[in-house]
Amino acid sequence: MPTILVTGALGQIGAELVPALRARYGADNVIATDLKVLPPSGAAAIAPYAHLDCTEAQQLHEAVQRYDVGTIYHLAALLSASAEAAPQLAWSVNMSGLYNVLEVARGYGCQVFFPSSIGAFGPTTPRDLTPQVAVQRPTTIYGVTKVAGELLCDYYAGRFGIDTRGLRLPGLISYVAVPGGGTTDYAVEMFYHAVRYGRYTCFLSADTRLDMMYMPDAIAAMMDLMATDSGRLRYRNAYNVTAMSVTSAEIAAAIARQVPGFTVDYEVDPVRQAIADSWPRSLDDSAAHADWGFAPRYDLETMTTDMLARLASKLAAARSR
Ligand SMILES: NC(=O)c1ccc[n+]([C@@H]2O[C@H](COP(=O)([O-])OP(=O)(O)OC[C@H]3O[C@@H](n4cnc5c(N)ncnc54)[C@H](O)[C@@H]3O)[C@@H](O)[C@H]2O)c1
Repeated sequence: MPTILVTGALGQIGAELVPALRARYGADNVIATDLKVLPPSGAAAIAPYAHLDCTEAQQLHEAVQRYDVGTIYHLAALLSASAEAAPQLAWSVNMSGLYNVLEVARGYGCQVFFPSSIGAFGPTTPRDLTPQVAVQRPTTIYGVTKVAGELLCDYYAGRFGIDTRGLRLPGLISYVAVPGGGTTDYAVEMFYHAVRYGRYTCFLSADTRLDMMYMPDAIAAMMDLMATDSGRLRYRNAYNVTAMSVTSAEIAAAIARQVPGFTVDYEVDPVRQAIADSWPRSLDDSAAHADWGFAPRYDLETMTTDMLARLASKLAAARSR
C-alpha cells in the first residue's frame, strides 16, 4: 500500500495519531515527520521518522517521492494563542505549509487530511449549534489561516480533483502529549493540575462554554473520515465535529466529583478570553453524522474517568523512573 506521511507528528495530535495509524496500517507504512530535529535515539524510538519543514516545498517533494507517499495528514501548524503572539510566522507556517502540501498532492496524486478548527468561526457566526455552513469571519490570525486553508482544500478538490478531507476540530483533551499553545489548553491543564496539586488557576472565565472532544474520538474521526467512500462526502473543506459543549466550571465540577477537594480559581487572560469569546459555544455536527457516520464515544463523565486514571498512572510511572 502507498505510505502515509504525517507532518507535525510530534505534537498533541500526532503523538496519538501516528501510533493509531501504525496499528491499523503497519508501522513501516506510516512516516512521522516534524520540524524538530531529534537525537538518533529519539528518532529511532518513533521510526520511521524524518525531519521535515513543511514550509520548504522541496523537502516535501523529496519525502513524498522517497517514501512513495499516498496520503498526507498535515498537522503542522501554529495554534491559536501561539499564532496570535507571532502572526507573520503563523501565516507562513499555516498557509505556506498547506499550500506546499496541496501542491505536492497535486503532483503525486496524494489524499490530504487538513485539521481545521472551531477557530475558523468568528463573532458574527451564530454561536449556538453553529451550522456546517455559516458565516466565517474570524478575528484571529489562526482563524484566518484556517478559513483560507478550508477554501484552499475546497479549491484543490474542485479544480484539480485532489482528495482533500478535513475536520473543524474542537478543543482536544488528551494525556499523551501536552497541548501546543491553543486557547483550549486550560481543559487539559486542569486534569494535570488536579492529579498533581489538587488545584488549578484557569485562564478563562468559569462560564466560558466551548466544544471539546477526547483525543481517542478525534483520532477515530480523522481515520474514519479518511477511510470513507469518497462519493459520500458533501464537504471538502472541513466537517464540524464535537463531543461535548462544556464550560470551564463544568469540567472542574466533573473532575472534583472524582478528585475530592479539587478547586479551581480564575485569573482571566484577556487575550485568550477574547479568542474564546469569538468562537462558537456549540457546533452542529449533523453533516458529519449523516455523511460518514461520525459518532464520538466519550462524554464529559466517561472522558474524565478515563483521563484521570491514565494521567495518574502516567505521572506515577514518571515518578518511579
Ligand atoms: N489540539 C487541538 O485542540 C486542536 C484543535 C483544533 C485544530 N487543531 C489543529 O490540529 C493540528 C495539530 O494540532 P496539535 O495540537 O497537534 O498541534 P501542536 O502544536 O501540539 O503540534 C504541532 C507540531 O507541528 C510542528 N511544526 C511547527 N512548525 C512546523 C513546520 N514548519 N514544519 C513541520 N512541523 C512544524 C511542531 O514542532 C509541533 O510538533 C493543527 O493544524 C491545529 O491547528 C488542533
